[in-house]
Amino acid sequence: MTAAVPRQKDLLQIRGMTADDIVAILDAAGRWTGASGAADTLTGRTVVNLFLEPSTRTRVSFEIAAGRLGAMVVNIAATSSSIVKGESLVDTARTLDAMRPDAIVVRHPSAGAPAIVARHTKASVVNAGDGAHEHPTQALLDALTIRGRFGRLDGLRVAIVGDIVHSRVARSNAQLLTTMGSDVVFCGPRSLMPEAMVSIVEGGPGRLTPASSIEEAVDGADVVMMLRVQHERQQAAFVPSLGEYKSRFRLDAARLERAKPEAIVMHPGPVNRGVEMTPEVADGPQSVILEQVANGVAVRMAVLEMLIGGN
Ligand code: NCD
Repeated sequence: MTAAVPRQKDLLQIRGMTADDIVAILDAAGRWTGASGAADTLTGRTVVNLFLEPSTRTRVSFEIAAGRLGAMVVNIAATSSSIVKGESLVDTARTLDAMRPDAIVVRHPSAGAPAIVARHTKASVVNAGDGAHEHPTQALLDALTIRGRFGRLDGLRVAIVGDIVHSRVARSNAQLLTTMGSDVVFCGPRSLMPEAMVSIVEGGPGRLTPASSIEEAVDGADVVMMLRVQHERQQAAFVPSLGEYKSRFRLDAARLERAKPEAIVMHPGPVNRGVEMTPEVADGPQSVILEQVANGVAVRMAVLEMLIGGN
């Protein structure tokens, strides 16, 4: 008799996930793409969205995902919670736990906050972005989008350009994509590149290499992923001027021509219009930005079902 595999309690990071774990979530999410399907697999379940940092697409996406599966959703925002009265994260976690939610989705400005919440609740915790650490569901929805276009993730060249050092999106994507066998090329202003690139990922057949210019990064790319300049995480001026940033790192039509003809352009949002890419690229035929948003709902449905669906 084989023992039942214990169900995973939380989704805190991509690091540590195997290719099989990732494929299982992508396959499950694939059932929800396209159609605005609905089900009752989470009827009677309660999902708390604890968002202590601004968010539009991620919060709404989790809310829609939980709602489409029949769960009750409670939204807590920083300004309307007892956090502004000085309640600690641990006390907030214990307080929520006493009301027996099934899942708590946490976004927090500090790395490691969702893991702290997870230790103080029986609920499943999903990391919806913690500081500059990880944003696992973003990487999963990006992977679903890329796989939807190319039918695979291995052997693809993915350029990630912009504010790498502050980006949880870059970290989760680098880990996921190299685990799945993609070659990831990083590029950004020197001050916005992590010193130890290799420490970002562990294991995996894919490679992670720095590029010294956007031209070099985009050359022959299948995927060009642009990142927002995260002013809120920068203590000092990391880039001398916006003008210089744009002239060296903005994706425009000419730079995009260096990528493969069938290459796709991605951005996790929110876009600083005209900074990371020109409008003709952001709204052009190669942009899949809104497809990423749509796939976000599908991935979050799959993740919630995996963690708290069934008995
Ligand atoms: C990202 C985030 O918050 O980490 N946005 C998102 O979740 N779609 C990226 C960003 O804020 O630039």
